[in-house]
Amino acid sequence: MMKLKLSDEKIYQGSLLLVNADHPLRENGEERLLPVNVQYPDILLMREAVYILHLIFDKLHCRDSIVPVSGYRSAEEQTEIFQSSLRENGEEYTRKYVAVPNHSEHQTGLAIDLGLKQEVIDFICPEFPYEGICDRFRRTAPAYGFVERYPKGKEEITGIGHEPWHFRYVGYPHSEIMSEYGLTLEEYMAWIKQFSCKSPLRWTKGSQVTEVFYTEAFQTGTTAITLPEDSLYMISGNNVDGFIVTRRCQQSYEFTIQAGTTGRWRRDYE
Ligand code: DAL
Ligand code: ZN
Repeated sequence: MMKLKLSDEKIYQGSLLLVNADHPLRENGEERLLPVNVQYPDILLMREAVYILHLIFDKLHCRDSIVPVSGYRSAEEQTEIFQSSLRENGEEYTRKYVAVPNHSEHQTGLAIDLGLKQEVIDFICPEFPYEGICDRFRRTAPAYGFVERYPKGKEEITGIGHEPWHFRYVGYPHSEIMSEYGLTLEEYMAWIKQFSCKSPLRWTKGSQVTEVFYTEAFQTGTTAITLPEDSLYMISGNNVDGFIVTRRCQQSYEFTIQAGTTGRWRRDYE
């Protein structure tokens, strides 16, 4: 068996961070941001999210029809967007479509707003319809690691209005599990807490079996996790009180390429 030690700061890092009205952003990972592409040098995302987004764009050949509108935002940018929307659109609209500063997942670098390419694109609410190429993107995204984050009918749970344009990188296979079960990130993070190291969620796709489980952070400031020797795994904090461990039970090279998962799977942990 191999033993991993996770310091408390890791609770606030990773692709599964839950950032919403109840859970503010605690860290920003600015050093790991990249431009989405050369045409939009000011729109940044976390490195792994950029890589996966391009895999989806390659698959759908949609670079001429779907454009990035807003990616990473600093706290200052989110404050400026929130304040200017309050002035221009009023409080009800703003609270529906703009997260309060420090509670926006745009500040994680894991969220992107996409728009159907047209002459005028609304910055806060870009058009991203449930038909054509936009809907193909929406339906394809979970097989790669992105999900539509604020779906219709879940406004009470997410605390945000229906946003067909806002996609969140959570990583694979979480995106596919969430999509299959129709869960928002709030619901998924609550659900996953019932799965422990001894009784993990097992997710099977073709020959690939992945286990997912939650570990609460120890009070001592360092949490120890034990995994089978030579495990291939990813760990993300939940931004609240613990860690989600994702472990591949079998490895398949084809699967890695097809699902587009990045080289962040690891066998050790510093
Ligand atoms: N539009 C989303 C909710 C944000 O401002 O983070
Ligand atoms: Zn957004």
